[in-house]
Amino acid sequence: MTNRRSFGSLSARNRSQICEPVYLDGHSSDVAVPQVDIMQPIGVAMKVLIVGNMGYVGSVLGPHLRQSMPHATLVGFDNAYFGQALVPGSTLPERFLDRQIFGDARDLHPGLLSGFDVVVELAAVSNDPMGNKFESATLSINRDASQRLARLAAEAGCKSFVFASSCSVYGIAEGGARTEQDPTAPETAYARSKVETEDLLAQIDTDMTITALRFATACGYSPRLRLDLVLNDFVASALRHDEITVLSDGSPWRPLIDVSDMARAIEWAASRSPEQGGRTLVVNTGHNANNFQVRDLAMAVKEALPGVTVSINTEAPVDSRSYQVDFSTFARLAPQHQPLCTLGDSIEQLIAGMRSAGLDQAETPSSPLIRLHELQRLTSTGQLSSELEWIA
Ligand SMILES: NC(=O)c1ccc[n+]([C@@H]2O[C@H](COP(=O)([O-])OP(=O)(O)OC[C@H]3O[C@@H](n4cnc5c(N)ncnc54)[C@H](O)[C@@H]3O)[C@@H](O)[C@H]2O)c1
Repeated sequence: MTNRRSFGSLSARNRSQICEPVYLDGHSSDVAVPQVDIMQPIGVAMKVLIVGNMGYVGSVLGPHLRQSMPHATLVGFDNAYFGQALVPGSTLPERFLDRQIFGDARDLHPGLLSGFDVVVELAAVSNDPMGNKFESATLSINRDASQRLARLAAEAGCKSFVFASSCSVYGIAEGGARTEQDPTAPETAYARSKVETEDLLAQIDTDMTITALRFATACGYSPRLRLDLVLNDFVASALRHDEITVLSDGSPWRPLIDVSDMARAIEWAASRSPEQGGRTLVVNTGHNANNFQVRDLAMAVKEALPGVTVSINTEAPVDSRSYQVDFSTFARLAPQHQPLCTLGDSIEQLIAGMRSAGLDQAETPSSPLIRLHELQRLTSTGQLSSELEWIA
């Protein structure tokens, strides 16, 4: 199956339009949506704890929440695996928070949760290769610590718990876009950790609103950039080597969401009313227009950076992940918090950000921006144990 979406207008997009709700194919949602999101009156002075705030997503979320909720008290909690993996020239994203706490989410003290209205759980071993290498830590951090955190938050009287799940729970999904009602088929420890956590969260007996956001694959610029995400990787190789090598036949489907739109979705989930989606909600988080095949992502980057060559391995074995996802529920529940960034916007912002940080030079090491490499370095130097606990 081919993606017939045209990328013709990508490079012509005016920067003033960036992140306006304009889609590549002139798409408009086919779902009838109300005009407003129904939010809880949690109050302007809400207290928000973001666990795992010092990663790729958290480094965009903190500044975003500071802007959208200027009077909120924002507290971060993280064990700083990637604390120093900042893009050169960036300022510390944690300066937008009121307080930063360092610690391991597996040992988070229950007393710490007292007084918080919202807990956002981002802490995780955050992709398949890391999950394969550190399987036991993946289950203890992503699943067990997340479940414990939600239970403690409920006991502490917290009103809302937001869990960062993933569309990778759909595995290899042939035959159309997957809805939340479709069966999951997790292929990896990482995907299993997410789906098992969703199930455990649903079993917590609480009045707290729980939202598991099944995010599409993230892309876009962050002060703690990751180059182990498909679009970010393509832009980096195009800038550095004038070449993109697609390590498959390019046919797998990957829905994408820009990291800035993840932050907006988390903001919605933090304040959503239980009338919108129920007390406990699992929701695919992305946009129907942003289901792409990997080869189309490569071609979109080539279009933004003419002269780049794309090589696609037509002999490659089938990818273990390929899914199209139906994001209609999210469109219906959160009309004011729909993804705004187009693929072209994300590519433009990555190019601009990487150029200004000097990350477009072939000789710049990319290792610290690849999560698995950083964890392997920290374990090989004896700073982290094989269970990813700090030793030194
Ligand atoms: N990036 C994506 O494509 C994507 C897509 C879907 C879902 N998600 C989910 O969103 C969340 C954030 O992803 P990200 O891209 O920012 O990942 P990331 O790896 O950049 O950041 C994860 C953060 O969690 C922290 N952390 C990990 N284990 C911890 C522990 N035991 N105690 C305290 N802190 C700990 C790390 O130090 C890091 O700051 C993750 O749960 C991830 O699974 C990400």
